[in-house]
Amino acid sequence: MAMENQANEQKKPVILSGMQPTNDLMLGNMIGALRNWVVFQQQYECYFCVVDLHALTVRQVPAELRRRSLDVAATYIAGGVDPKQAAIFIQSHVSEHAELTWVLNTFAGMGECSRMTQFKDKSSQHSDNVNVGLFTYPILMAADILLYQANLVPVGEDQKQHLELTRNVAERFNFHYSPTFTIPEPFIPQSGGRIMSLQEPTKKMSKSDPNAGATIFLIDSDDQIRNKIKRAVTDSGTTIQYDEARPGVSNLMEIYSITTGKTVADIERDFEGKGYADFKIAVADAVVEYVKPVRERYNEIRSDVPELTRILQEGAEKARSTARKTLRKVYKKVGLVERT
Ligand code: TRP
Repeated sequence: MAMENQANEQKKPVILSGMQPTNDLMLGNMIGALRNWVVFQQQYECYFCVVDLHALTVRQVPAELRRRSLDVAATYIAGGVDPKQAAIFIQSHVSEHAELTWVLNTFAGMGECSRMTQFKDKSSQHSDNVNVGLFTYPILMAADILLYQANLVPVGEDQKQHLELTRNVAERFNFHYSPTFTIPEPFIPQSGGRIMSLQEPTKKMSKSDPNAGATIFLIDSDDQIRNKIKRAVTDSGTTIQYDEARPGVSNLMEIYSITTGKTVADIERDFEGKGYADFKIAVADAVVEYVKPVRERYNEIRSDVPELTRILQEGAEKARSTARKTLRKVYKKVGLVERT
């Protein structure tokens, strides 16, 4: 009877995702990712990490990396991720990530890693430091995912190729030994997930955009937000209508839609006969209202470092207890002598 109960008890599917602590988080991270994480945490077993080891593939200022890692963790919580429901942790606190990476490196081909577009982009952006870590970056990401036997991995479109590589490496390992890893599926939010730069609306809004006016950070003041929206690039038309040929106004409409819950049709109707000036004021008000509670929560959490440290320690412990099981299995299968 007890056994039957156990078998009937449905294990929640697992979700893992992470962000690099390379800059302050911005509106796009909230809309494209955090907003979904908050929903997932109720139905899935969730692991959300700050991928500080990934950040090392580009030269960092040590004190800044340390500060930013805590900033990002605090932003997860400020955005609504609940440490009681999801494990929130710093990747380097769970050493199994680095350890599994080593084994998975031996299951990834030079050819397939060379084909990664992010590797090609980053090696041309940082041509003075094309290090081996940059090359094996997606294998560390595979380890993040496979350690927790994740079923679903919410990522942006740009990470789809890395997830495909993760699946290939996992399948290869499973085939060579025996089923060990769950094969993860990408979860890529459809429309409504992508908001664009305020200065170049054909480019994704990015936390590392050198043009400060292009990105709304979650810790921007109300005035900063209003100014950025006011200066946002618009198109030659004058009407408030969604049109792919007019990416500037369409992006502002998308932002307005997400931050107010209004549909594009509602917005077009509400702003019929009105121009950019009126619309931008409305968008600015909506974004200010959307960001304000996140910023306030952030300031509260970030200023209580002992509490934040405690949350991250608890998250790491929870993560480690899952990660350890997978790593032990892997070490055994490949033939390493068991640690006693
Ligand atoms: N490479 C991802 C990015 O740049 C970040 C990341 C690292 C990640 N490990 C992950 C995302 C595991 C999802 C799952 O966006």
